[in-house]
Amino acid sequence: MILIKNIKLLVQAAEESPRMVAGTKMSTLPVLADAFLFIKDGVIKDFGKMRSIENSPFSREFSGNETETIDASGKLVLPSFCDSHTHIVYAGSREIEYIDKIKGLSYEEIAKRGGGILNSAKLLQQTSEDSLYEQALGRINEIMMKGTGAVEIKSGYGLTPEDEIKMLRVIRRLKETTPLIIRSTFLGAHAVPAEYKGRQSDYVDIVVKDMIPRVAEEGLADYIDVFCDRGFFTVEDTERILEAGQKYGLRGKIHANELDFSGGIQTGVRYNALSVDHLEFTGEDEIEKLLDSGTMPTLLPGAAFFLGMDYPPARKMIEAGLPVAMASDYNPGSSPSGNMQFVMSLGCIKLRMLPEEVINAVTINGAYAMGVEDITGSIARGKTANMFITSEIPGYEFMPYAYGSDHVEKVIVKGRVVSK
Ligand code: NIG
Ligand code: FE
Repeated sequence: MILIKNIKLLVQAAEESPRMVAGTKMSTLPVLADAFLFIKDGVIKDFGKMRSIENSPFSREFSGNETETIDASGKLVLPSFCDSHTHIVYAGSREIEYIDKIKGLSYEEIAKRGGGILNSAKLLQQTSEDSLYEQALGRINEIMMKGTGAVEIKSGYGLTPEDEIKMLRVIRRLKETTPLIIRSTFLGAHAVPAEYKGRQSDYVDIVVKDMIPRVAEEGLADYIDVFCDRGFFTVEDTERILEAGQKYGLRGKIHANELDFSGGIQTGVRYNALSVDHLEFTGEDEIEKLLDSGTMPTLLPGAAFFLGMDYPPARKMIEAGLPVAMASDYNPGSSPSGNMQFVMSLGCIKLRMLPEEVINAVTINGAYAMGVEDITGSIARGKTANMFITSEIPGYEFMPYAYGSDHVEKVIVKGRVVSK
């Protein structure tokens, strides 16, 4: 049991927690000053004002031997980040392409000459399951210490039935052996393998007829993804894959409109995808289709930052009444960082979102975008005790403002303190 006392500000804490927040509501954040919070059995049992701590139904347990008391004077407590879009199971790294990019090649040019995702796929195919697990575990520990408590992880560097399954088994092992809340997504349609060049629909056939049934049979995926964009998979390919996924209860979470007005957003909404992600190319029609859908627009500003590309129109989306989630896209090619504190700064600086809006985007809306809003994403009674205590800072606005510094001092995941 853990009792956190004297919390300067308990952030994103409410009696009734919404499943997500949209439009003007994104700029409000429920907070409690001078607060306490009590954790038992891995769950948030109670929280409230310090002055009413005696009235807690758990107050008898507060001073017992089994309760660890943490004094959070001068510090904030926030719910852990929910990073709803990552590719953290990968082999090696791609800093050589990074240098090519500095010299002037674009992401698409690198992909066209067989680099990019295909480069990572070649390496992954030669890497053992154990080694992949170890590499990913390092990244899991890294993001956990930076404040992430839930993460979605995609396959997509296998690109053969065996190697896609190998990746998904690594994700399953991470689910079983690490304390983070993890959801897995099958992304067989991430790139067209070189040997299928010119016969893309034959590869889609394999995804639909071979990979999806096998992945579903082994229960290896929670969601399904397609890179629906110029130079990658078409709307028609995406429809076939989402339809096949639906037959097995796999809901879409798709890569859309990063490189062009690809029709990916509209397709995602038509198939009731849980989220559509990237969205650098979003216009009036895309926004209109997203309104009143259950699909969460998810922005990945780390990728636009790293690739030096245009940012998605976050302000337009929020002002139109949409919700927005933000995720890291942690991957070796377009965003080799899973630092959600930096993602918050990018949200403020580059997307012109307010600190309240970015906090909603990386907590409750991120939780919705990976289907875990019932158990995490906010401070609420009965939710999993995933949160972090900051260092002594003036207020939550300081987190995205003082970019590049680590403001997370103590991490609690599933009710346990994870030490640095
Ligand atoms: O989300 N856009 C597609 N996929 C990844 C990049 C993967 C890679 O380059 O390795 C992304 O940006
Ligand atoms: Fe991605």
